[in-house]
Amino acid sequence: MCGIFGYAGPDARPEILIEGIKRLEYRGYDSWGLCLAAENHLTLLRRVGRIGGVDASALAVGRDGSARSGIAHTRWATHGAPTEVNAHPHVDCSGRIAIIHNGIIENHAELRAELEAAGHSLTSATDTEVMAHLVEQGMADGASLTAATRAMLRRVRGAFSIAVVSADEPDTIVAARRSTPLVLGLHDGMALLASDIPALIGHTRRVFALADDEVAVLTPGALAVTTLDGDPVEPEQLTITWDLEAAQKGGFEDYMSKEMHEQPQAVADTLLDRRGPGGELILDEMRLSADDLRRIDKVFIVACGSSYHAALVAKYAIEHWVKVPTEVDIASEFRYRDPVLNERTLCVGVSQSGETLDTSEAMREAARLGAKVLVVSNVVDSSMARAADGVLYTRAGPEIGVASTKCHLAQIVALEVLGLYLAQILGTQPATEINEILNAMEVLPGLVTTALARAGDVDDVAAKLTDARDFFFLGRHVGYPVALEGALKLKELAYLRAEGYPAGELKHGPIALIEPGTVVVGIATRNPLWEKVLSNVAEVRSRGATVVLVADDGDEESAAAADHVLWVPPTYPLLSPVVGVVPLQQLAYRLARLHGHDPDRPRNLAKTVTVE
Ligand code: M6R
Repeated sequence: MCGIFGYAGPDARPEILIEGIKRLEYRGYDSWGLCLAAENHLTLLRRVGRIGGVDASALAVGRDGSARSGIAHTRWATHGAPTEVNAHPHVDCSGRIAIIHNGIIENHAELRAELEAAGHSLTSATDTEVMAHLVEQGMADGASLTAATRAMLRRVRGAFSIAVVSADEPDTIVAARRSTPLVLGLHDGMALLASDIPALIGHTRRVFALADDEVAVLTPGALAVTTLDGDPVEPEQLTITWDLEAAQKGGFEDYMSKEMHEQPQAVADTLLDRRGPGGELILDEMRLSADDLRRIDKVFIVACGSSYHAALVAKYAIEHWVKVPTEVDIASEFRYRDPVLNERTLCVGVSQSGETLDTSEAMREAARLGAKVLVVSNVVDSSMARAADGVLYTRAGPEIGVASTKCHLAQIVALEVLGLYLAQILGTQPATEINEILNAMEVLPGLVTTALARAGDVDDVAAKLTDARDFFFLGRHVGYPVALEGALKLKELAYLRAEGYPAGELKHGPIALIEPGTVVVGIATRNPLWEKVLSNVAEVRSRGATVVLVADDGDEESAAAADHVLWVPPTYPLLSPVVGVVPLQQLAYRLARLHGHDPDRPRNLAKTVTVE
């Protein structure tokens, strides 16, 4: 979720660049940087931390007025810690070409090896830097900045939006995108680019969309867009009616809606870059060796809130695929209950923020007891990530809404990737099976998109439940954590009493609470216990409960057991929580709105809980 801004025109000064990236601060970042391009030299500035305190007019960089274009960047670290050397822009060996990038280059390791073998010297740990050196190679062979950038784009795999400048062509910025956003702007004598519209509002409302694999060449007051092969393209002009605040939320009413819509990307990005040429999993980033993992005879997963629910899904997956006993615990309980672990235990802490005190203290306790500690975090270099033996990052981008949505989905995916990786290393599943599940994971973003597109159906159901005050969420197998997550979302957003329960346990007590008017939401996506869920639901329906079922598309048997159905596209049972939780997020969101609550600021809650 890095932010990108570029400006070609008479006012190429630090102020304009800093103003541009300040307007992208809401995307979240840990470091920032800029580069001004003048005839025969580039001037670079990179910093860790906030832009807030910087007085652009006091910066020495680029103050002589000779610059003709500039690019600037806010970085949300993925590859490499948030340090000055890893901050963008990145330059080639000569320091005459600079690039900024949002996204992930999947084949960066092989390109880096190739470039180093050819004598290039790379200084950062980022995936981005290889692109600067590839452009350098092209220009050294006589290509223009545009032609060399095109050639570079043909070599890289992954997701990106980029902007490149060169001291040889200081009037020009070359930009391109594949899968991540980039918009272009035009106004008297200037051309602009940004990863998001807020950075352009204030300069111009003549904004254009760049499509995947299109290349834009920006010069003062002019914009030329072509395909990767150089065929001219007329870019689509966007109508901008948003004010700045609406633009920062991507046109959505609130951050929660925006973040729910970012879920397909969060899932896709978390899966990027994980497979080798033969399709096998490679988790180098994790820092735990295959030998470390072969010694493991027990897994503990420890977390709080939505992260805990993601951990519960992983228990089913890991025990099924790896056949290693897997315990899941709430972090605030774990550290006070004499957990039994030793050097053969893998203790996995799951935390969006990587700062939650209960979880970080639990990890400290696990390390003290000799366990190998792995952290699944969304924030690169978070306290927990730094203290752990290994780390696996979810790549959901910053999550601003208090209710976890896209990070929860990304956590399930990351933990299941971990499960498959353990299965691969311990040889507990055939490679063909692992491959098949990974292929199914790769289509999850599309399924999540389909589920999201049905928000209108969820709204219709929510409208019928506005008067309800008591909700039970029931599920079995991996549907159980989905039920817990659905109930948590409803509690924290709509302030409604909601219990998440294993459906089979209802008859051991809670069924006494069922009466006409109680709403029971059942997770009836197909898993090994699906039929039993339908029987459990029949028990509550016969006692007057209103039954809402989350069911696989076309499953008429489930539909017959329900008053209302929330349809989702089917997938592998162990992957189904990634899709099944989506309508429950939407249900909680809509009921919050219907009850007049702001979903971004639920009462009494903080985004990061750093107290016991
Ligand atoms: O940052 P973490 O993942 O460690 O946070 C854990 C919980 O505080 C968090 O998931 C919380 O339950 C959310 N508000 C749920 O939407």
